[in-house]
Amino acid sequence: VIDERTIEVWSLDLESPPAPFAEVLTEAERAQAARFHFEHLRRHYTVARGALRLLLGRYLSADPALIALRTGPKGKPFVDAPLSFNVSHSGDLALLAFTRGPELGIDVEQFRPMPDLLPVARRFFCAEETEELMALPPPARQRAFFACWTRKEAYIKATGNGLHTPLDQFRVTLRPGEAARFVHIANDDAGAWTLHDVVVPEGYAAAVAYRAGGGAREIAQRVFEGMPRVQ
Ligand SMILES: CC(C)(COP(=O)(O)OP(=O)(O)OC[C@H]1O[C@@H](n2cnc3c(N)ncnc32)[C@H](O)[C@@H]1OP(=O)(O)O)[C@@H](O)C(=O)NCCC(=O)NCCS
Repeated sequence: VIDERTIEVWSLDLESPPAPFAEVLTEAERAQAARFHFEHLRRHYTVARGALRLLLGRYLSADPALIALRTGPKGKPFVDAPLSFNVSHSGDLALLAFTRGPELGIDVEQFRPMPDLLPVARRFFCAEETEELMALPPPARQRAFFACWTRKEAYIKATGNGLHTPLDQFRVTLRPGEAARFVHIANDDAGAWTLHDVVVPEGYAAAVAYRAGGGAREIAQRVFEGMPRVQ
């Protein structure tokens, strides 16, 4: 049971053996897994989707295989229950966030070499964010770029709009040592939203965003190890 003031963030190793996760997938999800050309992507999809079903099963006291996972107009998965969740994966790591109440979004990115970091920032980020990045020395710049990227993706995943919301329509903090927060959001109230960094292994950045709804919530981070027992 999650209380009203907590966001539970589970981290999951996508290289876990897939067999127990495959058991809880629907026929359609197995078919989806089979469509991946690369074997590791097939396994990663199976582990992430299976873990989502197992955790939803626990939160909803339901049979994981029978949970009706629905998809919003822009692709955001949801359930017909007072439980919000969102999933992100990059490299071998997946993060799954759950809360009762406000819509939330989570994003994780594994750092990769970005020789075109500044052109990408200029193309997608707002001008102030790009200026802040340009003022940083290169090692700090890479970290700040992925902090910025994941914080922005967390917002567009929380609203469910995805990239239909241009990333330059809102500004997040990105400088080292500065707390994660929204500086402004076009057509929305930045003060009504909360942003947190998620603790992840070296070489990754991750953030969770949600509509605050009466005050910021606690983030409880857990590691999904093996198969939690489902009643
Ligand atoms: C789909 C999107 C919402 C997130 O994509 P992403 O960051 O590549 O992928 P993530 O792993 O974080 O998220 C994927 C998961 O988000 C969920 N999701 C899908 N559409 C969503 C939406 N509109 N809103 C919220 N969540 C969504 C699904 O659970 C999906 O998991 P699945 O693929 O196993 O079904 C969208 O913003 C997108 O396409 N982004 C592209 C990112 C990009 O170009 N990155 C380049 C970095 S330099």
